[in-house]
Amino acid sequence: GSGDEKELRAPICCILGHVDAGKTKLLDCIRRTKVQQGEAGGITQQIGTTYLPVENIRERTSLKAEVTVKVPGLLVIDTPGHESFSKMRSRGSSLCDIAVVVVDITRGLEKQTIESLDLLKRHNVRFIVALNKVDRLYGWKPCHNAPIAKALKNQSVDVQMEYRWRLTEVVTQFKENGFNTALYYENKKMKHVFNIVPTSAKSCEGIPDLLLLLVRWVPEIMIEKLVYDDTVECTVLEVNEVKDLGATIDVVLINGVLHQGDQVIVCTEQGPVTTVIKDLLTPHPMKELKAKGIYKHHKELRAAQGVKIVARGLQHAMAGTSLVVVKAGDDLQQCEAVAMQE
Ligand code: GTP
Ligand code: MG
Ligand code: NA
Repeated sequence: GSGDEKELRAPICCILGHVDAGKTKLLDCIRRTKVQQGEAGGITQQIGTTYLPVENIRERTSLKAEVTVKVPGLLVIDTPGHESFSKMRSRGSSLCDIAVVVVDITRGLEKQTIESLDLLKRHNVRFIVALNKVDRLYGWKPCHNAPIAKALKNQSVDVQMEYRWRLTEVVTQFKENGFNTALYYENKKMKHVFNIVPTSAKSCEGIPDLLLLLVRWVPEIMIEKLVYDDTVECTVLEVNEVKDLGATIDVVLINGVLHQGDQVIVCTEQGPVTTVIKDLLTPHPMKELKAKGIYKHHKELRAAQGVKIVARGLQHAMAGTSLVVVKAGDDLQQCEAVAMQE
């Protein structure tokens, strides 16, 4: 670098799609976790955030040392696909930089896929399509973790034919909903045509392709948006009662730094609540914030991150509202008014 290159923050990526398209399992594949198996009824019921450090992504994609990645990592937000959780999908899509819309190749576009596309259009968010469950194509030969082009080459003519017609079907469905899409490695107009990455969350084909698009291509198309900014931008995802800690809030820190001891304001139905950050917790990298377990403690945390905040008086904080930091010299009443407006 030239030294005066601006520091970038991790892109925030929201995973959206119809129930059971494979959103959580795709993340499990990336993280090497088993969150999906542990979910009640196999259904995601909360937003989950996971930080993927760039070193893990390099390892997952076998990136050569000389290939540069400009972002420090990826902050991924998993959302529920069940129809009753549309608020969480809306919240996720309103704060992300990029989305991954997961579509089951054997089912095509479904009700909540289309709802998700509407949300993304409304919030003006670009997306990548993960055309998932390619291993369900009859006769698929698994090629664990392989780039998708390599995995496809290994398949019989019959599998390749079924793959082509199902892909064409999905492209047509997107077209009917007003979106131009193409296989990413055949896409000559990436600025206007949305990329499709075929994936399997079972045998992990296509995962390297998806990760590379997220950390290499996304910064190319939205570098300005990803320039780190000191002004705190922070959204409350939910309130969580944690044993020994009391009511905590899970937030997405989009920009800026949070410190232990910061005076902050959260919104409740009864008005603003001003409190002081006692502790800042994150799960270990590649683990989900909502996963109960051992947290890492931080004196300060820099965006973008998923953070659990420990402080008094958080029990009535409202999901979807902003957390405001009171700086030295700020007028508290004015800050409280700002917090309630947002
Ligand atoms: P919700 O969060 O409830 O909306 O579902 P989801 O989109 O997170 O899907 P989930 O990861 O829960 O997967 C749903 C089911 O599909 C599970 O039984 C998974 O094992 C299965 N599944 C997901 N991805 C794949 C895949 O690529 N191939 C195969 N064969 N099964 C998959
Ligand atoms: Mg899920
Ligand atoms: Na599910």
